[in-house]
Amino acid sequence: MQGTAYALETAMIAFRGFEDVIRRVHEYGQEHVFAFWDMLDEPGRRELLNELRSVDFSQMKDLYTRASQGATQQPGFEPAPYIPLPASAGDRLEWERARERGESEIRAGKVAAFLVAGGQGSRLGFDGPKGMFRVGPVSGKTLFQIHAEKILKYGRKYCVSIPWLIMTSEANHEDTVSYLRGEKFFGLDGKDVLVFPQNMIPSMDERGRLILEEPGRIFRNPDGHGGSLTALAGSGALAEMERRGVRIISYFQVDNPLVRIVDPVFIGFHAMREADISSKGLMKAYPGEKIGVFVRFEDGTTGVVEYSDLSTELQEQRDANGALRFCMGSIAIHLFGVSFLKSITGGSALSLPFHVAKKKIRSHAAGGPIELDGYKFEKFVFDALPLAPRNVVLETSREDEFAPVKNRTGVDSVDSARELMTGQCRRWLAERSIRVPGKVRVLEISPLCAVEAEDLPSNLSIPDSETVYLE
Ligand code: UD1
Repeated sequence: MQGTAYALETAMIAFRGFEDVIRRVHEYGQEHVFAFWDMLDEPGRRELLNELRSVDFSQMKDLYTRASQGATQQPGFEPAPYIPLPASAGDRLEWERARERGESEIRAGKVAAFLVAGGQGSRLGFDGPKGMFRVGPVSGKTLFQIHAEKILKYGRKYCVSIPWLIMTSEANHEDTVSYLRGEKFFGLDGKDVLVFPQNMIPSMDERGRLILEEPGRIFRNPDGHGGSLTALAGSGALAEMERRGVRIISYFQVDNPLVRIVDPVFIGFHAMREADISSKGLMKAYPGEKIGVFVRFEDGTTGVVEYSDLSTELQEQRDANGALRFCMGSIAIHLFGVSFLKSITGGSALSLPFHVAKKKIRSHAAGGPIELDGYKFEKFVFDALPLAPRNVVLETSREDEFAPVKNRTGVDSVDSARELMTGQCRRWLAERSIRVPGKVRVLEISPLCAVEAEDLPSNLSIPDSETVYLE
């Protein structure tokens, strides 16, 4: 039985300077965390007690109570309004105006890029920071390199240094920092690359008890990408951005090699509409696609409802024209106003809700490691949307901006991402009337050469070989 992993009765332990922690552990019925106390040496005991000192026991109790009670009632919602892709000449003019406005914001140094890379690439079966996964279809460049070179190219294009903020987590912080340093930040100035880890939160077993990962360590997981806003403020990065005159933080995920990290049109709409948060959306490919959808809650605020929280009935609901009613999917690309972030993270702590996921968790037991059923808690960044008085949702085209690398093969995989990257290169070349010889199967364009079609020199000639890499 899982519950027998720890001794049921544990004598009250003593350790000078930690009396308050030990008392709290007992008060909250968590004394099983001392089950292997006798095996620990003095530094090991101190480490465990220090870790316990950082646990908010009352919060954990609340989280467990809510998790064990099951789903909470969601407020009512309808599809959120959004700015669709341009269809008329008038729309195209508006998009052109947005681009000009965005370009002037970028040139003025008002934009920083923010990558969240604290997650573990477990679905990908990759051991290490996911950003170190090689995805370039010809070059074999890693996700980190592709992102870094895009930022470098945008900087060169707009004659400005664009700061790159990167959120890591405890498990991959050191590896990420030493990789980026070893690669000399791929040409970016080290002073413009700010790397900071997110917070961790303990998991709990089905009986509401903390889980021991090792005899002297409790199991904790990163607090979700929603933790990025607190980490941004807590690390001092937000204040540093403000000091540098940055007004807009452009947020993206590590696993999307197609993301336009610094998109002038998106930034322009955000600025013109004086938004606090702007988000990119795209038409869902099919009702059950695993992306969240943009909604307007009954109190008038904008938000995202995660795919797992949207009933099959709502996923499949169609309007009078036969189109999906909840059609605008979130691809986790957002712009945050710096002053808005300051207002929600300053003073009292920002309290985005925790979502709960039931997971198998490896735990230490007297007879060796075992797997427990437990609850993991995570915050989602899109829960900040309803806090923003002014939201913009902008439609983008899937093939131009969304190639998530979640799995090895199949849907949302390394293979599909590489195909999408080749497809984008083909479209850019066609747009510039550059002929692609028939033999070419795989194409890749270095971000240092182009971050959009207009950057390509029109006199390019493409070699007649199976794989082509344009630098
Ligand atoms: C996420 C979104 C989904 C969106 C999809 C697009 C959630 C819950 N779902 O799904 O709505 O359509 O991406 O690809 O967000 N991360 C951290 N710290 C953490 C957890 C995650 O930095 O504690 C980072 C990861 O490194 C990654 C990103 O957040 O860059 C997304 O994480 P992932 O778990 O892959 O999100 P999905 O469930 O795929």
